[in-house]
Amino acid sequence: MILPVYLYGQPVLRQKAEEVPADYPNLKQLVADMFETMYRAEGVGLAAPQVGLSLRLLVIDADVLKDDFPECKGFKRTMVNPVFLERSPEEVSMEEGCLSLPGVHEKVARSTRIRVRYFDEEMKEHEEVIEGWAARVVQHECEHLEGHVFIDNVSAIRRQLNKGKLNSIIKGTARCSYRAKAVGK
Ligand code: NI
Repeated sequence: MILPVYLYGQPVLRQKAEEVPADYPNLKQLVADMFETMYRAEGVGLAAPQVGLSLRLLVIDADVLKDDFPECKGFKRTMVNPVFLERSPEEVSMEEGCLSLPGVHEKVARSTRIRVRYFDEEMKEHEEVIEGWAARVVQHECEHLEGHVFIDNVSAIRRQLNKGKLNSIIKGTARCSYRAKAVGK
C-alpha cells in the first residue's frame, strides 16, 4: 500500500522518534509499504517519520545509483533502531534531496565512512561498515529519526534562498509527483 509522504512543516518530522519494540505489530507489512511508497516516489531512502510514524525505522534501496556510485550496488537495507558506532571525521559535501522537501536540493557535508548497528525486519541484529554514497543515505535517513531534515545542515544564507520553496511546501502548493501530506492541505 502506498502511504502519503509527510512534507516539510509536518510536526512528526520534528519529533525524536521512538525505538521500535521487538513485538511491534505488522512490522513486515509496514516495511513493505514503506518500500512501495519510496519506489513510487523514486526515492532511495525513506524514514518512518516521513510516513507519519515517529518510529526508529528506515528503508533504503540505493541500487539505482550504482553507475555513479559503485558502493550502492545491491545496497538495499531495512534498519530498525539503527545506532552509529563510528562516523569518520573525513566528510564530503554533495547535493542531496528529500522526499519530504520536493524541489529542494542542497549540498550537505557527511562522513565518508560509518559503522552502524541495527536490526532488520526479522529483528536480527547487524553491524556493518558503510562507505561513500551509501553512508550518506544512511546518515540522511538517521537524521530523520532525530527530528532533523537535511536543510537544517545548510548555511542560513542557503536556507534563506530556499525560503520560497519551503513556504510553498508548507502551504501544499509545491509541485510533487507522489501522494503527499502538507500541513496546509
Ligand atoms: Ni529525507
